[in-house]
Amino acid sequence: MKPQRRLRLGMVGGGEGAFIGAVHRLAARMDDRYELVAGAFSSSLENCQRTGAALWLDPARCYASYQKMAAQEADGIDVVAIVTPNFLHAPVATAFLQAGIHVICDKPLCLNAQQASQLAAVVKQSQCQFILTHNYSAYPLIREARQRVLSGELGEIRFVEVEYLQDWMSELVEQTDNKQASWRGEPAKAGAGCIGDVGTHAWQLASFVSGMLPQSLSAELATVVAGRALDDDVRVTLRYANGARGRLWASQVASGHENSLRLRIYGSEASLEFQQENPNQLWIRPRNAPAYCLTRGSGVLSDEVRTMGRVPAGHPEGYLEGFGQIYREAADQIWAAIDGQPFSGSLLPGIDDGVAGMKFIDAVRHSSMADGKWVDFSAA
Ligand SMILES: NC(=O)c1ccc[n+]([C@@H]2O[C@H](COP(=O)([O-])OP(=O)(O)OC[C@H]3O[C@@H](n4cnc5c(N)ncnc54)[C@H](O)[C@@H]3O)[C@@H](O)[C@H]2O)c1
Repeated sequence: MKPQRRLRLGMVGGGEGAFIGAVHRLAARMDDRYELVAGAFSSSLENCQRTGAALWLDPARCYASYQKMAAQEADGIDVVAIVTPNFLHAPVATAFLQAGIHVICDKPLCLNAQQASQLAAVVKQSQCQFILTHNYSAYPLIREARQRVLSGELGEIRFVEVEYLQDWMSELVEQTDNKQASWRGEPAKAGAGCIGDVGTHAWQLASFVSGMLPQSLSAELATVVAGRALDDDVRVTLRYANGARGRLWASQVASGHENSLRLRIYGSEASLEFQQENPNQLWIRPRNAPAYCLTRGSGVLSDEVRTMGRVPAGHPEGYLEGFGQIYREAADQIWAAIDGQPFSGSLLPGIDDGVAGMKFIDAVRHSSMADGKWVDFSAA
């Protein structure tokens, strides 16, 4: 059934000078299913008002606090995007869920596994939709990779190798005027360092494509840059129930890397490789046949995957379109909830993925503090 109107979107965070809020706003407009109508864009009212004015919003709907916005917009917005530093995700989400408003929240879910379980209970009580923007899982060729693993084309999965490497924190940027770095360097605001910031993306992508969560893990968290309060490099070894082994390496001090998120999965019959910085290609390497590269427009992709694109094949799509896809599918999911219709088959990351991600961080910390001791993740 065609929705009768655009979804009314509110935003918390994403004020002037912020990074990801603007990406969410572009993503929401990409398929014309949302209209931004309200915001608490910043902890500074002046910044919030300037941001709202630049976005042509009614000044009366630019709020001094998210609490005020949640109270006043219960009938004014359908969904809120949460794009604040991590420590605010849980309290902001709770305020809006309790007002009956659907939530699209950026990652990592919150500060720790205990807070994640509490938030999960609020989501379940609210009966609202909760979408977590692990955006890389909405790239067309990642969906294709997942289908190929699930169809058994790779055979029995033996190795899962994932890495997310950056170098922008190679110096003590949190002590400069870099807005994005400042809260990321504060334990009370970030909750975790590299493991939360990019490690959770790598974790979610590997789990999404392989269809498996590990049974146990051994980890080493490191702080490479002197004076930093949180980890900036993490290495994790994983063991899966079927005997497969895995490795996850996330780093924000890996010189020469910008957003090098790379996933390789090896089965008994073939392997696959995806690199986020080249997201219109997916390599498949069968054991007894030549390797081949699938492209976003390839005629052999399923209709479901091929129709995800917004511009003809050969025109690169990537980060923004991945976010746009999350927003497109979230709109379908939220409209079904508003109309009281059943909705099945969602591939969007939700509260359960967020809880698993926070348990992963806790397990990594636990193992690292015990000098890499194997931690039973299935019991986490
Ligand atoms: N999915 C991705 O690819 C991706 C990429 C970057 C960041 N993120 C996540 O997005 C979130 C924001 O990251 P960022 O890099 O955009 O940070 P940022 O510092 O650029 O932006 C944070 C915004 O939140 C606002 N804010 C702070 N306190 C507030 C309050 N009390 N009320 C309202 N607004 C408040 C700030 O003023 C700022 O506008 C983080 O959770 C981060 O992990 C996700």
